[in-house]
Amino acid sequence: MKIPPPIAMLAELTHRCPLSCPYCSNPLELTRLDQELDTQTWARVFREAAGLGVLQLHLSGGEPASRRDLEELVTAARDAGLYTNLITSGIGLTEKRLQTLDAAGLDHVQLSLQGTNPEMADEIGGYKGGFKRKMQVATWIGQIGFPLTLNAVLHRRNLHQLPRAIEMAVEMGARRIEVATVQFHGWALKNRDAFMPTRAQAQEATQIVAEARKSLKGTLVIDYVPADYHDDYPKRCMGGWGTSGLNVAPDGQVLPCHAAQTIPHLEFDRVQDKPLQEIWYKGSAFNAYRGTDWMPEPCQSCDRKTVDFGGCRCQAMAIIGDPNATDPVCIKSPHHGALQQQANTHAVQVDAPLNYRAQPQRGVVQAD
Ligand code: SF4
Ligand code: FES
Repeated sequence: MKIPPPIAMLAELTHRCPLSCPYCSNPLELTRLDQELDTQTWARVFREAAGLGVLQLHLSGGEPASRRDLEELVTAARDAGLYTNLITSGIGLTEKRLQTLDAAGLDHVQLSLQGTNPEMADEIGGYKGGFKRKMQVATWIGQIGFPLTLNAVLHRRNLHQLPRAIEMAVEMGARRIEVATVQFHGWALKNRDAFMPTRAQAQEATQIVAEARKSLKGTLVIDYVPADYHDDYPKRCMGGWGTSGLNVAPDGQVLPCHAAQTIPHLEFDRVQDKPLQEIWYKGSAFNAYRGTDWMPEPCQSCDRKTVDFGGCRCQAMAIIGDPNATDPVCIKSPHHGALQQQANTHAVQVDAPLNYRAQPQRGVVQAD
Protein backbone atom coordinates (compact mmCIF):
# COMPACT_ATOMS: atom_id res chain seq x y z
CA MET A 1 0.00 0.00 0.00
CA LYS A 2 1.23 3.49 -0.84
CA ILE A 3 1.33 5.46 2.40
CA PRO A 4 0.04 9.03 2.05
CA PRO A 5 1.67 11.82 4.06
CA PRO A 6 -0.28 13.06 7.11
CA ILE A 7 -2.38 16.21 6.69
CA ALA A 8 -2.83 17.10 10.35
CA MET A 9 -0.84 16.79 13.55
CA LEU A 10 -2.25 17.08 17.05
CA ALA A 11 0.40 18.38 19.44
CA GLU A 12 -0.62 17.56 23.00
CA LEU A 13 1.56 20.22 24.57
CA THR A 14 0.72 19.28 28.15
CA HIS A 15 -1.64 17.17 30.21
CA ARG A 16 -2.01 19.97 32.77
CA CYS A 17 -5.47 21.55 32.80
CA PRO A 18 -7.54 23.69 35.15
CA LEU A 19 -10.62 21.60 34.31
CA SER A 20 -11.16 17.94 35.22
CA CYS A 21 -13.79 16.81 32.70
CA PRO A 22 -14.81 13.22 33.42
CA TYR A 23 -14.71 12.40 29.67
CA CYS A 24 -11.19 13.74 29.08
CA SER A 25 -9.45 12.01 26.18
CA ASN A 26 -6.06 12.17 27.92
CA PRO A 27 -4.73 8.79 29.12
CA LEU A 28 -5.39 7.57 32.67
CA GLU A 29 -1.66 7.86 33.30
CA LEU A 30 -0.92 11.53 32.74
CA THR A 31 2.44 12.99 31.72
CA ARG A 32 4.15 15.04 34.43
CA LEU A 33 5.38 18.59 33.90
CA ASP A 34 9.04 17.53 34.08
CA GLN A 35 8.45 14.97 31.27
CA GLU A 36 7.04 17.53 28.81
CA LEU A 37 8.98 18.38 25.64
CA ASP A 38 10.72 21.74 25.81
CA THR A 39 10.16 24.67 23.44
CA GLN A 40 13.10 23.90 21.13
CA THR A 41 12.12 20.27 20.71
CA TRP A 42 8.54 21.20 19.83
CA ALA A 43 9.85 23.78 17.33
CA ARG A 44 11.98 21.10 15.66
CA VAL A 45 9.02 18.70 15.57
CA PHE A 46 6.90 21.39 13.88
CA ARG A 47 9.57 21.81 11.18
CA GLU A 48 9.77 18.07 10.70
CA ALA A 49 5.97 17.87 10.47
CA ALA A 50 5.86 20.55 7.78
CA GLY A 51 8.63 18.73 5.89
CA LEU A 52 6.59 15.54 6.08
CA GLY A 53 3.56 17.22 4.48
CA VAL A 54 1.48 18.24 7.51
CA LEU A 55 -0.62 21.35 6.78
CA GLN A 56 -2.64 21.82 9.95
CA LEU A 57 -1.29 21.86 13.46
CA HIS A 58 -3.75 21.45 16.33
CA LEU A 59 -2.29 22.75 19.58
CA SER A 60 -4.02 20.85 22.31
CA GLY A 61 -3.61 19.41 25.80
CA GLY A 62 -4.74 19.22 28.57
CA GLU A 63 -5.04 22.96 28.35
CA PRO A 64 -2.40 24.34 25.97
CA ALA A 65 -2.62 27.76 27.68
CA SER A 66 -1.01 26.05 30.70
CA ARG A 67 2.25 26.23 28.71
CA ARG A 68 3.92 29.55 29.41
CA ASP A 69 5.74 29.27 26.06
CA LEU A 70 2.52 28.93 24.01
CA GLU A 71 3.19 32.17 22.12
CA GLU A 72 6.71 30.99 21.20
CA LEU A 73 5.30 27.68 20.05
CA VAL A 74 2.76 29.42 17.80
CA THR A 75 5.55 31.55 16.31
CA ALA A 76 7.64 28.43 15.69
CA ALA A 77 4.72 26.67 14.02
CA ARG A 78 3.97 29.65 11.78
CA ASP A 79 7.67 29.93 10.87
CA ALA A 80 7.50 26.28 9.84
CA GLY A 81 4.59 27.17 7.52
CA LEU A 82 1.85 25.36 9.46
CA TYR A 83 -1.77 26.49 9.85
CA THR A 84 -2.25 26.75 13.61
CA ASN A 85 -5.40 25.90 15.54
CA LEU A 86 -5.61 26.32 19.31
CA ILE A 87 -7.92 23.83 21.04
CA THR A 88 -8.74 25.37 24.42
CA SER A 89 -11.21 25.53 27.29
CA GLY A 90 -10.46 29.26 27.37
CA ILE A 91 -9.41 29.10 31.02
CA GLY A 92 -5.99 30.67 31.40
CA LEU A 93 -6.42 33.00 28.41
CA THR A 94 -6.55 36.73 29.04
CA GLU A 95 -7.36 39.40 26.47
CA LYS A 96 -3.70 40.39 26.41
CA ARG A 97 -2.58 36.81 25.88
CA LEU A 98 -5.02 36.36 23.01
CA GLN A 99 -3.69 39.54 21.41
CA THR A 100 -0.14 38.21 21.74
CA LEU A 101 -1.20 34.94 20.18
CA ASP A 102 -2.83 36.88 17.35
CA ALA A 103 0.39 38.82 16.82
CA ALA A 104 2.32 35.53 16.85
CA GLY A 105 0.16 34.39 13.92
CA LEU A 106 -2.38 32.03 15.49
CA ASP A 107 -4.86 31.20 12.72
CA HIS A 108 -7.87 29.68 14.45
CA VAL A 109 -9.39 28.93 17.86
CA GLN A 110 -11.48 25.95 18.88
CA LEU A 111 -13.30 26.59 22.16
CA SER A 112 -14.73 23.71 24.18
CA LEU A 113 -18.20 23.88 25.69
CA GLN A 114 -19.05 21.65 28.67
CA GLY A 115 -22.61 22.96 28.93
CA THR A 116 -24.72 25.92 27.85
CA ASN A 117 -25.24 27.38 31.35
CA PRO A 118 -23.01 27.78 34.41
CA GLU A 119 -24.73 25.00 36.38
CA MET A 120 -24.00 22.35 33.74
CA ALA A 121 -20.66 23.65 32.46
CA ASP A 122 -19.09 24.18 35.88
CA GLU A 123 -20.25 20.83 37.19
CA ILE A 124 -18.97 18.87 34.18
CA GLY A 125 -15.66 20.78 34.01
CA GLY A 126 -15.23 20.54 37.79
CA TYR A 127 -14.37 24.26 37.85
CA LYS A 128 -16.56 26.84 39.55
CA GLY A 129 -16.80 30.06 37.57
CA GLY A 130 -15.44 28.39 34.42
CA PHE A 131 -18.49 29.11 32.26
CA LYS A 132 -18.41 32.82 33.04
CA ARG A 133 -14.72 33.04 32.16
CA LYS A 134 -15.25 31.06 28.98
CA MET A 135 -17.98 33.45 27.83
CA GLN A 136 -15.63 36.37 28.44
CA VAL A 137 -12.93 34.62 26.41
CA ALA A 138 -15.45 33.99 23.60
CA THR A 139 -16.15 37.74 23.48
CA TRP A 140 -12.42 38.55 23.21
CA ILE A 141 -11.99 35.92 20.50
CA GLY A 142 -14.78 37.61 18.51
CA GLN A 143 -13.35 41.10 19.06
CA ILE A 144 -9.88 40.07 17.91
CA GLY A 145 -11.45 38.35 14.94
CA PHE A 146 -10.11 34.81 15.23
CA PRO A 147 -12.07 32.31 13.15
CA LEU A 148 -13.85 30.21 15.79
CA THR A 149 -15.10 26.65 16.09
CA LEU A 150 -17.19 25.71 19.10
CA ASN A 151 -16.63 22.18 20.41
CA ALA A 152 -19.73 20.90 22.19
CA VAL A 153 -19.17 17.58 23.94
CA LEU A 154 -22.51 15.93 24.57
CA HIS A 155 -23.74 13.03 26.68
CA ARG A 156 -26.85 11.90 28.50
CA ARG A 157 -26.68 14.73 31.05
CA ASN A 158 -26.46 17.62 28.58
CA LEU A 159 -27.86 16.35 25.25
CA HIS A 160 -31.03 18.38 25.87
CA GLN A 161 -28.82 21.49 25.54
CA LEU A 162 -27.86 20.72 21.93
CA PRO A 163 -30.29 23.27 20.35
CA ARG A 164 -28.94 26.00 22.66
CA ALA A 165 -25.32 25.02 21.90
CA ILE A 166 -26.03 25.50 18.19
CA GLU A 167 -27.67 28.86 18.89
CA MET A 168 -24.66 29.93 20.97
CA ALA A 169 -22.29 29.07 18.13
CA VAL A 170 -24.29 31.38 15.84
CA GLU A 171 -24.39 34.14 18.46
CA MET A 172 -20.63 33.91 18.94
CA GLY A 173 -20.07 34.23 15.19
CA ALA A 174 -18.46 30.77 15.00
CA ARG A 175 -18.03 29.37 11.50
CA ARG A 176 -18.30 25.81 12.69
CA ILE A 177 -19.56 23.75 15.60
CA GLU A 178 -18.34 20.28 16.37
CA VAL A 179 -21.15 18.34 18.01
CA ALA A 180 -19.33 15.36 19.47
CA THR A 181 -21.11 12.75 21.52
CA VAL A 182 -18.70 11.42 24.14
CA GLN A 183 -16.51 8.60 22.84
CA PHE A 184 -15.89 6.06 25.54
CA HIS A 185 -12.14 5.80 25.92
CA GLY A 186 -9.91 6.56 28.91
CA TRP A 187 -11.67 8.67 31.52
CA ALA A 188 -15.00 8.53 29.70
CA LEU A 189 -14.96 4.73 29.90
CA LYS A 190 -15.01 5.09 33.71
CA ASN A 191 -18.10 7.27 33.36
CA ARG A 192 -20.32 5.28 31.05
CA ASP A 193 -23.07 5.03 33.71
CA ALA A 194 -23.20 8.82 34.00
CA PHE A 195 -22.78 9.71 30.35
CA MET A 196 -24.27 6.99 28.12
CA PRO A 197 -27.11 8.56 26.14
CA THR A 198 -30.35 6.68 25.65
CA ARG A 199 -31.15 5.44 22.16
CA ALA A 200 -33.98 7.99 21.99
CA GLN A 201 -31.58 10.82 22.84
CA ALA A 202 -29.10 9.63 20.21
CA GLN A 203 -31.83 9.57 17.55
CA GLU A 204 -33.15 12.98 18.56
CA ALA A 205 -29.65 14.49 18.39
CA THR A 206 -29.19 13.14 14.86
CA GLN A 207 -32.49 14.72 13.84
CA ILE A 208 -31.66 18.08 15.47
CA VAL A 209 -28.31 18.15 13.65
CA ALA A 210 -29.93 17.29 10.31
CA GLU A 211 -32.50 20.07 10.70
CA ALA A 212 -29.94 22.63 11.87
CA ARG A 213 -27.66 21.76 8.95
CA LYS A 214 -30.50 22.65 6.60
CA SER A 215 -31.65 25.82 8.34
CA LEU A 216 -28.13 27.17 8.96
CA LYS A 217 -26.65 26.30 5.56
CA GLY A 218 -24.21 29.04 4.62
CA THR A 219 -24.08 30.35 8.22
CA LEU A 220 -22.69 27.50 10.31
CA VAL A 221 -20.99 24.24 9.43
CA ILE A 222 -21.94 21.40 11.79
CA ASP A 223 -19.59 18.46 12.24
CA TYR A 224 -21.25 15.59 14.07
CA VAL A 225 -19.88 12.59 15.93
CA PRO A 226 -22.94 10.45 16.80
CA ALA A 227 -23.39 8.18 19.82
CA ASP A 228 -21.88 5.17 18.14
CA TYR A 229 -22.83 2.49 20.72
CA HIS A 230 -26.38 2.92 19.39
CA ASP A 231 -25.33 2.77 15.73
CA ASP A 232 -25.20 -0.15 13.31
CA TYR A 233 -21.86 0.70 11.74
CA PRO A 234 -18.70 2.03 13.36
CA LYS A 235 -16.97 5.31 12.69
CA ARG A 236 -13.95 5.56 10.42
CA CYS A 237 -11.69 6.38 13.33
CA MET A 238 -8.85 8.84 12.60
CA GLY A 239 -9.94 8.68 8.94
CA GLY A 240 -8.24 5.25 8.91
CA TRP A 241 -5.25 4.29 11.07
CA GLY A 242 -2.02 5.99 9.94
CA THR A 243 -3.56 7.60 6.86
CA SER A 244 -4.12 11.27 7.58
CA GLY A 245 -3.14 12.29 11.08
CA LEU A 246 -0.76 11.75 13.98
CA ASN A 247 -0.60 12.80 17.62
CA VAL A 248 2.47 13.78 19.56
CA ALA A 249 2.02 13.27 23.32
CA PRO A 250 3.51 15.75 25.83
CA ASP A 251 6.48 13.44 26.47
CA GLY A 252 7.29 13.04 22.77
CA GLN A 253 5.66 9.68 22.05
CA VAL A 254 4.14 9.66 18.58
CA LEU A 255 0.72 8.03 18.47
CA PRO A 256 -1.59 7.02 15.61
CA CYS A 257 -4.56 8.23 17.72
CA HIS A 258 -5.10 9.78 21.15
CA ALA A 259 -6.10 6.47 22.79
CA ALA A 260 -3.49 4.24 21.13
CA GLN A 261 -1.59 3.77 24.41
CA THR A 262 -4.48 1.60 25.62
CA ILE A 263 -3.38 -1.08 23.12
CA PRO A 264 -0.78 -3.00 25.11
CA HIS A 265 1.21 -4.66 22.33
CA LEU A 266 2.03 -1.42 20.48
CA GLU A 267 5.42 0.25 20.88
CA PHE A 268 5.63 3.98 20.27
CA ASP A 269 8.64 5.84 18.92
CA ARG A 270 9.60 9.18 20.41
CA VAL A 271 10.50 12.40 18.61
CA GLN A 272 13.64 12.59 20.81
CA ASP A 273 14.94 9.38 19.20
CA LYS A 274 13.84 9.41 15.54
CA PRO A 275 12.76 11.88 12.86
CA LEU A 276 8.99 12.19 12.44
CA GLN A 277 9.27 11.05 8.83
CA GLU A 278 10.79 7.72 9.85
CA ILE A 279 8.20 7.25 12.60
CA TRP A 280 5.27 7.94 10.24
CA TYR A 281 6.40 5.67 7.40
CA LYS A 282 8.29 2.91 9.24
CA GLY A 283 7.12 2.98 12.88
CA SER A 284 5.67 -0.35 14.01
CA ALA A 285 2.69 1.30 15.76
CA PHE A 286 1.71 3.19 12.58
CA ASN A 287 1.98 0.07 10.46
CA ALA A 288 0.09 -2.19 12.88
CA TYR A 289 -3.38 -1.37 11.49
CA ARG A 290 -2.67 0.47 8.27
CA GLY A 291 -4.70 -0.47 5.22
CA THR A 292 -6.76 -3.66 5.17
CA ASP A 293 -4.30 -6.58 5.28
CA TRP A 294 -4.45 -6.89 9.09
CA MET A 295 -8.24 -7.30 9.11
CA PRO A 296 -9.96 -10.44 10.37
CA GLU A 297 -13.35 -11.65 9.20
CA PRO A 298 -16.04 -10.35 8.91
CA CYS A 299 -14.18 -7.16 7.87
CA GLN A 300 -11.82 -8.88 5.41
CA SER A 301 -14.61 -9.86 3.03
CA CYS A 302 -16.87 -6.88 3.75
CA ASP A 303 -17.59 -4.28 1.09
CA ARG A 304 -17.34 -1.49 3.69
CA LYS A 305 -13.76 -2.33 4.63
CA THR A 306 -12.33 0.72 2.89
CA VAL A 307 -15.21 2.87 4.16
CA ASP A 308 -14.70 2.45 7.92
CA PHE A 309 -11.48 0.38 8.07
CA GLY A 310 -13.06 -1.95 10.62
CA GLY A 311 -13.93 0.91 12.99
CA CYS A 312 -11.98 1.95 16.04
CA ARG A 313 -9.09 -0.25 17.27
CA CYS A 314 -9.14 1.34 20.71
CA GLN A 315 -12.86 0.65 21.06
CA ALA A 316 -12.36 -3.01 20.13
CA MET A 317 -9.64 -3.11 22.80
CA ALA A 318 -11.74 -1.34 25.44
CA ILE A 319 -14.87 -3.40 24.96
CA ILE A 320 -13.73 -6.88 24.05
CA GLY A 321 -10.05 -6.75 24.96
CA ASP A 322 -8.91 -7.47 21.38
CA PRO A 323 -7.59 -4.57 19.27
CA ASN A 324 -7.50 -6.81 16.17
CA ALA A 325 -11.23 -7.51 16.26
CA THR A 326 -14.03 -5.85 14.32
CA ASP A 327 -15.30 -2.83 16.25
CA PRO A 328 -18.23 -4.24 18.29
CA VAL A 329 -20.37 -1.27 17.20
CA CYS A 330 -20.62 -3.04 13.83
CA ILE A 331 -23.80 -5.03 13.29
CA LYS A 332 -21.68 -7.83 11.76
CA SER A 333 -19.58 -8.22 14.93
CA PRO A 334 -20.53 -11.17 17.14
CA HIS A 335 -20.31 -8.74 20.07
CA HIS A 336 -22.73 -6.16 18.65
CA GLY A 337 -25.84 -7.40 20.52
CA ALA A 338 -24.00 -7.51 23.86
CA LEU A 339 -22.69 -3.97 23.29
CA GLN A 340 -26.15 -2.60 22.61
CA GLN A 341 -27.47 -4.32 25.73
CA GLN A 342 -24.61 -2.81 27.73
CA ALA A 343 -25.35 0.63 26.30
CA ASN A 344 -29.01 0.36 27.29
CA THR A 345 -28.03 -0.71 30.81
CA HIS A 346 -25.55 2.18 31.23
CA ALA A 347 -28.15 4.62 29.89
CA VAL A 348 -30.65 3.96 32.71
CA GLN A 349 -28.26 4.40 35.68
CA VAL A 350 -29.75 7.35 37.50
CA ASP A 351 -27.57 9.50 39.76
CA ALA A 352 -24.35 7.79 38.69
CA PRO A 353 -21.45 9.77 40.22
CA LEU A 354 -18.94 11.63 38.03
CA ASN A 355 -15.39 10.30 38.20
CA TYR A 356 -13.36 13.40 37.46
CA ARG A 357 -10.08 13.32 35.57
CA ALA A 358 -7.05 13.51 37.84
CA GLN A 359 -4.29 16.10 37.46
CA PRO A 360 -0.74 15.10 36.47
CA GLN A 361 1.77 14.66 39.28
CA ARG A 362 4.11 17.62 39.29
CA GLY A 363 7.35 15.60 39.42
CA VAL A 364 10.56 17.64 39.33
CA VAL A 365 9.50 21.23 38.62
CA GLN A 366 11.36 22.99 35.84
CA ALA A 367 10.82 26.20 33.91
CA ASP A 368 8.48 25.70 30.96
FE1 SF4 B 1 -16.84 -2.14 8.76
FE2 SF4 B 1 -15.81 -4.53 9.39
FE3 SF4 B 1 -18.34 -3.98 9.98
FE4 SF4 B 1 -17.63 -4.32 7.45
S1 SF4 B 1 -17.58 -5.88 9.07
S2 SF4 B 1 -18.96 -2.72 8.22
S3 SF4 B 1 -15.55 -3.41 7.45
S4 SF4 B 1 -16.51 -2.96 10.81
FE1 FES C 1 -7.73 4.83 18.61
FE2 FES C 1 -10.14 4.98 17.44
S1 FES C 1 -9.40 6.05 19.20
S2 FES C 1 -8.38 3.94 16.72
